[in-house]
Amino acid sequence: MAVRTVLRMGDPRLLSVSAPVQQFDSPVLHALLQDLEDTMLHMNGAGIAAPQIGVNLRVVIFGQKPAPAGGMPTANPRYPDADSVPYTVLINPSLTPMGTAVEDGWEGCLSVPGMRGIVPRYTHLHYRGFDQYGLAIDRQVSGFHARVVQHECDHLDGILYPMRIRDLKDFGYTDVFFPNQDVQDD
Ligand code: NI
Repeated sequence: MAVRTVLRMGDPRLLSVSAPVQQFDSPVLHALLQDLEDTMLHMNGAGIAAPQIGVNLRVVIFGQKPAPAGGMPTANPRYPDADSVPYTVLINPSLTPMGTAVEDGWEGCLSVPGMRGIVPRYTHLHYRGFDQYGLAIDRQVSGFHARVVQHECDHLDGILYPMRIRDLKDFGYTDVFFPNQDVQDD
């Protein structure tokens, strides 16, 4: 379908609380998901939320599709750990931390291009929601998978990761923090 323009931090549309999806398996929803996927792949994102392309619905996608049979694996150059997260469409999510353990980790965001920050997230997470057909999703995950879900679902409540950084000394330009790495500009 289309690679859409990703809104950048400062745009008030990124700060609004998004509305639940009312109708599953609709042409409008399928078109939105295709645009989200095209945009995420184009920008090598680990995930993307609908509000980032200006659609204030509680829809996120994240993870990577398996490599086609006989094809090369599609490792994400921005997030080498991302291949541990299966491609997921998650709609109307609810998140419940499992325990109180929190861990710090680097994050970036397609809406905050060229920057990285250290963000605390729950280590273990139970999340529920629905796929595009209205089928239930119910998973218990840890580590990078849990981090991605928390980051993407924050977008649905108007929260960008810099708002969760505890010490702003841990926020800066990607090519300054990681000068010897071939990291892309988003
Ligand atoms: Ni983001």
